Amino acid sequence: MYGPPTPPSEFDLPLSGTAVWPGPEGIGESRFDDVPEQAAVELPPELGDDPRIALRRTLGMFATGVTVITTREGGQVHGMTANAFMSVSLEPPLVLISVDRRTKMCRLLHEGRTYGVSVLCESQSDLSDRFAGRVNPAAPDPRFEIVHDTPLVEGALAHFVANVTRSYWGGDHSLFLGRVEYARYTAERTPLLFHGGRYERLGTA
Ligand SMILES: Cc1cc2nc3c(=O)[nH]c(=O)nc-3n(C[C@H](O)[C@H](O)[C@H](O)COP(=O)(O)O)c2cc1C
Repeated sequence: MYGPPTPPSEFDLPLSGTAVWPGPEGIGESRFDDVPEQAAVELPPELGDDPRIALRRTLGMFATGVTVITTREGGQVHGMTANAFMSVSLEPPLVLISVDRRTKMCRLLHEGRTYGVSVLCESQSDLSDRFAGRVNPAAPDPRFEIVHDTPLVEGALAHFVANVTRSYWGGDHSLFLGRVEYARYTAERTPLLFHGGRYERLGTA
């Protein structure tokens, strides 16, 4: 009855394929059920009793920008605030997002699906809150433009449209590798930053 975990179909992807170079031996070869037994993270006691909170606080020292990931749901737009966005490759052009498996966004994304990434500028913290589920009724409604059939947040610093080419198991998150179809930015705005669980601006330290 209790066998090895069965990967959900979205993770049941071939490991070989379009890679131009296989990489160092062993990299990228582990399977869903090869994840080692969970070992406790060593954390200093002054960070408190809850190891998850302590780890999150420590990871929060890594300063990031803030994005809104968008996709279409029927005729509607669905958006989710995410700072777990990274560039992966220029050739082919690839980006990666990490999405909590409990979110609605995670249910909407799958291979072949396209997502938008809007990199927020410093005046858009209300939008970040809104797409993280904290709506400020006094803030104006977001406006979207549609590019490659994908919604993008108006007024952002940079925009990308990416098509999900692979999805990977990432513990309580799913990783969606996207091939970039469209990219643009404006040099006239400055980014919204996120550090230590708070919004920051360039030059405020
Ligand atoms: C600054 C910030 C960054 C966030 N980054 C992520 C992230 O990278 N991945 C993620 O899954 N959730 C992230 N979240 C939380 C989601 O935005 C939040 O859970 C959202 O309500 C999920 O929306 P959905 O369930 O409607 O798709 C972040 C929230 C904030 C405020």
